[in-house]
Amino acid sequence: MPNDLARHFLLDPAVTFLNHGSYGACPRPVMETYRRWQDRLEAQPVAFMDPAHLAARFAEVRHALGAELGADPDDLVRVTNATAGLNVVARSLDLRPGDEVLTTDHEYAALAKTWAFVAARTGAVIRPVRIPLPLTAEGFGGALREAMTDRTRALFLSHITSPTALVFPVAPIVAEARARGIVTIIDGAHAPGHIPLDLRALGADYYVGNCHKWLMAPKGTAFLHARQGAQSRLVPPVISHGWTAAGEEPGPFGGSAFLDRFQFQGTRDPAAWLSVPAAIRFRAEHGWTEVAERCRALAQEIAAELAGMTGLPAFAAPEVSAPQMVAMPIPDCDTVSLHGDLLSRHGIEIPALRWDGRCFLRLSIQGYNRREDGRKLLSAVRALLDLTARQTVPSGRR
Ligand SMILES: Cc1ncc(COP(=O)(O)O)c(C=O)c1O
Repeated sequence: MPNDLARHFLLDPAVTFLNHGSYGACPRPVMETYRRWQDRLEAQPVAFMDPAHLAARFAEVRHALGAELGADPDDLVRVTNATAGLNVVARSLDLRPGDEVLTTDHEYAALAKTWAFVAARTGAVIRPVRIPLPLTAEGFGGALREAMTDRTRALFLSHITSPTALVFPVAPIVAEARARGIVTIIDGAHAPGHIPLDLRALGADYYVGNCHKWLMAPKGTAFLHARQGAQSRLVPPVISHGWTAAGEEPGPFGGSAFLDRFQFQGTRDPAAWLSVPAAIRFRAEHGWTEVAERCRALAQEIAAELAGMTGLPAFAAPEVSAPQMVAMPIPDCDTVSLHGDLLSRHGIEIPALRWDGRCFLRLSIQGYNRREDGRKLLSAVRALLDLTARQTVPSGRR
């Protein structure tokens, strides 16, 4: 695998970085654009922050991002991260005691907390559905369909799951839920820049995605996409100049009520958000479709070699695994120690985690990775799993 792309990244060459999934990595040219926006802001803060100027710059971002996501630019607003966007949605729903929110057993832990918080405040019930494995479209849709009742008010699903790196086939169940009047909310934290998206066609009420992960924009860039008919329900986290009360003339900054409410929330550094088009450009200029395909093949190759070494079968078929992120089963071990040892003894950054009583390494492969990175991981895991077998603390004791 060619490695000339590595020079575009600021990643420490002393670390073999196999964890793009957690926070992404932003290419140098995008970081340079980001810093230039900050310099322009500092040179003329008042002119830069002028609402008309900002509204025009934000429109450029929404157009570039909309083209990438198959979305109407005016249905997209900036949020700081996926958690923030999903908090807005979860906390804007008018849930009542006994209402049910349907979700799965693969959701991101922080969002499970958000829903638990909402449930405690409203009396709603969160119902995580166990998704049958191995993942199939029929099993996925069937389990969720079976769990829907006339109390189901919302459906919350990851598009790509965090602990298990699966691509959930969300489209059919979103259509079905909407037809039943259920609010559909997709956590697309890992999806933009990773799998093809057509948010218009998907038709979920709310879709939240990170730009800092696979799109490789600077940190602090994420979007909240809301279908037009579902926008007025959302309560922004901050009420500021952009707020218009019901009945008032919307759009004091030349946008819709939805855009104004979310785009103008007091003084915030817009530089990271304004650099999103540069990230999209970087990927296009470097032929990222082909790069991503090479990454997918390498990730599958490494996962197959590890499976051969451990004797543990692949967790998911390649068709349902995230293309550049694979959950690789490993023997039962102390995952905290394994992660630490991989980093401190072998210079490898990769998450080791326990999910549903099983242990995994979650491998991410991005354009800067080389075939040697996989070789290094395999030999380190071979050495450490022998070691950890002797040192493992029985689970439940720590
Ligand atoms: C599925 C999923 N949802 C939400 C998040 C939260 O993202 P953030 O920390 O950017 O809010 C993550 C983070 O990795 C994730 O994997």
